[in-house]
Amino acid sequence: MEIYVDTANIEHIKHSAELGFITGVTTNPSLLAKEDPSVDVKKRILEIHELIGGHLSVEVISTKKDGMLREADEILKWFPEATIKIPIIPEGLGACRELARQDVPVNVTLIFSPTQAIAANNAGAAYVSVFMGRLDDVSTSSAEVIEDVCEIWDVQDFESQIIAASIRNPMHMLDAARAGADIATVPYNVIMQSLKHPLTDSGLNQFLADYDKMQAEKQKRMSM
Ligand code: G3P
Repeated sequence: MEIYVDTANIEHIKHSAELGFITGVTTNPSLLAKEDPSVDVKKRILEIHELIGGHLSVEVISTKKDGMLREADEILKWFPEATIKIPIIPEGLGACRELARQDVPVNVTLIFSPTQAIAANNAGAAYVSVFMGRLDDVSTSSAEVIEDVCEIWDVQDFESQIIAASIRNPMHMLDAARAGADIATVPYNVIMQSLKHPLTDSGLNQFLADYDKMQAEKQKRMSM
């Protein structure tokens, strides 16, 4: 399972790029607004593209097919490798089909059920983004939904990639990986949380303390 970072924060993206295992970034209007409501979206997106190099999903804000297609054209002029993120609404599916015809990768977002995911796949989506945290928020098991979607993809041999999104904690990452999601797009703080283990910290402290002990011993012997 690949890991993308789900943020528009430049410092977090810089650090994520240095981590060596993050292969993409997903953004949405809420994440951009959270960083700076007056942000110049084009400038910020290009800055992110420069930093990460890999997958970058950029979301449209139109709710009409023509508007979505116009926005997609504009984003592709910013950088041609963009993945266009489109909400799973009927107009969005039409726009997805049109972009897929032009070989533009589309990430269909705001998916909460297997039937929505199937529709997105059949409309030509390259990625289907299943929102986990928001399902749990309304007392629906996100683990079961992501499992269902992954099972259907296996049985049907669908080619689009499943992105587990709206990840709130490392357990969501595990549920997504266990189910067989291709990608999890994860907030920076959850990525960092998922790397921590108290035994790693105490183990490293012990290694360093023992190394210092050896060095001190060597110094002592040399000064004798
Ligand atoms: O990937 C989608 C994500 O940004 C939404 O997350 O936590 O607002 O449900 P959340």
